[in-house]
Amino acid sequence: MRDLIAETSLDVGHLVAPLFVREGISEPQPIVSLPGVVQHTRASVREEVKSLADMGVRSVILFGVPTIKDFIGSQAFDPEGIVQRTLRDLTADVGDSVVLMADLCVDEYTDHGHCGILDGPPGDPSTSVDNDATLEVYGRIAVAQADAGAHVVAPSGMMDGQVGAIRSALDAAGHKNVAILAYSAKYASGLYGPFRDAVDCAIVGGGDRKAYQQDWRNAREAITEVQADIAQGADMVMVKPAVAYLDIIAAVKAAVSVPVAAYHVSGEYAMLKAAAANGWIDHDTVALELLTAIRRAGADVVLTYLTHWFAELNA
Ligand code: PBG
Repeated sequence: MRDLIAETSLDVGHLVAPLFVREGISEPQPIVSLPGVVQHTRASVREEVKSLADMGVRSVILFGVPTIKDFIGSQAFDPEGIVQRTLRDLTADVGDSVVLMADLCVDEYTDHGHCGILDGPPGDPSTSVDNDATLEVYGRIAVAQADAGAHVVAPSGMMDGQVGAIRSALDAAGHKNVAILAYSAKYASGLYGPFRDAVDCAIVGGGDRKAYQQDWRNAREAITEVQADIAQGADMVMVKPAVAYLDIIAAVKAAVSVPVAAYHVSGEYAMLKAAAANGWIDHDTVALELLTAIRRAGADVVLTYLTHWFAELNA
């Protein structure tokens, strides 16, 4: 009877697997702070996507780790960049049966680690991210990812006007059907720590992203951010992180009519794994509880490193 009347469902079709693909390696590399998650090779990511698809997973989001990082993150839009190559591989393997998403940002690709183009020397206290110069680069990345087969581009840099700039760039390049998943309400969170290990990213000079990501003391600002993104053409909006921001997910769900995604981020995953490894909590029980809570709060789609585990549990 509990199942009959349960208000919330959790099934594999609502989960998106974040996958890291690293250029220039011949074996997958474990990520110490994300137990069970690896930096994939070009070959191993193809196997992983096939196995996820076989288990009913409908979508993956790709993050690239390039060999060469530079001031503007040019590997993010180079047609031969690691994500673009991988998108072409996956298109050949799985076609349209898996929704291929690409994270759209430059922090994995810049030598200074910021999500945008800087207006001065890295590490200098008076240097900041040049919002509008960054938009131009984001437009180029969107087109490169769409050319390579992305069905969805997911801008995560929190630059003002990024969704509109990307929509215009995609349309001008003939990619009218490529959708935008906007990381709209993305907080300047301490919970992204393990992700920075996953993409070998550190901010030169030890800065932070507080100039462009949201302050965790603010909830109403999230509604302004999602509404701005929808007005600019976002097809889906995202709240990130997830479990510490269930109130934001619920408020966004009530305020908008586009699909709402939530990102259960690296630090949230790492806390679960660490406590479970110590025998302090039961992994499977807590993992199901947390993912269900994110859905109960209102997320239609959940990006989570638990996708493979959950798919296997239900296979
Ligand atoms: C930026 C990006 C980040 C994450 C996803 N996209 C890092 C950041 O904003 O610092 C974090 C994801 C996670 O922690 O799992 N490209």
